Amino acid sequence: MKSFYITTAIDYANGSPHLGHAYEKVLTDTIARFRRQMGDRVHFLTGVDEHGQKVQASAKKKGIPPQQFCDEVSEEFRALLRKLNISNDDFIRTTEKRHKQVVRAVLQQLFDKGEIYKAEYTGFYSTRQEQFLQEKDRLPDGTWPELFGEVTEIAESNYFFRLKQYQEWLVNFLAKNENFIFPQYRQKQVQEFLKEPLNDLCISRPRERLEWGISLPFDDGYVTYVWFDALLNYYSAVVDRPGVWAEAHHVIGKDILVPPHAVYWPIMLKAAGISLPKGIIAHGWWMTRGSKMSKSTGNALNPLDLVAEFGADAFRYFLIREMNVGQDSDFTREQFLVRYNSELANNFGNLVNRTLNMATRFSAGVVPAAEVEEELEKSLRDLWTKTRDEFIPQCEGYQFHTALERAMVFLTETNAYIEKRAPWKLGKSTEAKDQALLRTVLATIAEALRLVVAAVQHVMPSTTEKINAVLGYTPGAVWRDELNWGDKLTGAKVAGALVLFPRPAPPEKAPAPVAKG
Ligand code: MSP
Repeated sequence: MKSFYITTAIDYANGSPHLGHAYEKVLTDTIARFRRQMGDRVHFLTGVDEHGQKVQASAKKKGIPPQQFCDEVSEEFRALLRKLNISNDDFIRTTEKRHKQVVRAVLQQLFDKGEIYKAEYTGFYSTRQEQFLQEKDRLPDGTWPELFGEVTEIAESNYFFRLKQYQEWLVNFLAKNENFIFPQYRQKQVQEFLKEPLNDLCISRPRERLEWGISLPFDDGYVTYVWFDALLNYYSAVVDRPGVWAEAHHVIGKDILVPPHAVYWPIMLKAAGISLPKGIIAHGWWMTRGSKMSKSTGNALNPLDLVAEFGADAFRYFLIREMNVGQDSDFTREQFLVRYNSELANNFGNLVNRTLNMATRFSAGVVPAAEVEEELEKSLRDLWTKTRDEFIPQCEGYQFHTALERAMVFLTETNAYIEKRAPWKLGKSTEAKDQALLRTVLATIAEALRLVVAAVQHVMPSTTEKINAVLGYTPGAVWRDELNWGDKLTGAKVAGALVLFPRPAPPEKAPAPVAKG
């Protein structure tokens, strides 16, 4: 059995989760469930990033100690995972002992090897981003970009990690491992970034300025820079699990690729003598009218509202269907409703209802065996074969949106097949030929439905479980086999009905104007 270790970024515990956070969980869960289906031994980690300035400031604003603040916020993130049906195996908090121990051990090791040194530093510092800035970070007019918030000039002694001396190594590593970062165009951006010389990385913050962090093991007057601490979560969570680290894949947003994940992280690992992850998947942003959804801009949607209204699976479906991994997407309620109504309610939900209704009406609730194969049946089966053959490579290549789109096309064709065959007419005929055809139609659509259910179960795990239950079907252990057309439902006793995607309540309308008489 192949190991597959997958992680999300750990979210800052400085406020409630929003749609961007929810998406990353759903995407990673989709990958994790897909790999499990493929037979891998998956370990799926997510968690929260609890140290640093942002958390300290938010706790202070609320008037409670940072630990208590983190306890509350991390519960909110855990609740989100449950609501979204995320199948994570572990949840890490950077305030946990298991994590702090590893961070301190790695720091000590790097310090002993001379990879960390102390120096005086004078320069510009962004509190919002918790990083020192360079001249090249300025806008052409000399001001600092909005994302850095307030920028102040400071002079202080700090500890530095020798990033610069690994630049050439990283450049060579990326040249040799073309597919380290997905999508590949993001790897090119990292390579561009590495054309400029790197500076060593300041990995400490004086305790007077920031208390809320992990003390440096070799100097108690300082705490660890939050990124150096946070990145190590991926490793600290699995040090006690042999073989897991070697198969690590990180899912993150494009904003934290360069430099943290694509530059600091590989170099930290290399310097510490730890093997590198297998890959990094950098997704794009959910936007609202052209700007990134985020807590600080106040345009973030609460994912829990949508889940409460439409259910976790419809929400998961929309996120995965709409977003091409790597690119940005706008989130609008209108677009959500379009997909919900046309793809889920009308297409998917409709096939479920027709299958159940017709099996009940024409066959006493039992799926008959197919008896004939004419052109219509053959072309539907051929379409499935094509859909199936492309499905696994699409999912392996993180093209889940295309895979779902093809599954939808197949559903549309199955519904169209029903229209063409008009089983309601066949049901009125007493001719043996028509009866055989009717049984064939019932068998064909039930099998088509079973196949789509098998295909999309990593995106809609609870809906597909419900459908299998009403179809009286228990999938076999080997998922790939479930994707083969095999009349597996012959003889199954199906339930009468299942409401899956109820019509949302219409938006409140202004009262109609009263006609003047
Ligand atoms: N704490 C750091 C990550 C440390 S990982 C060792 C952090 N936290 S965050 O809460 O700001 O973001 C967490 C993840 O959510 C990131 O991968 C980020 O890209 C993602 N998203 C935040 N807003 C987003 C959107 N609007 N759209 C999609 N994902 C975005 O960064």
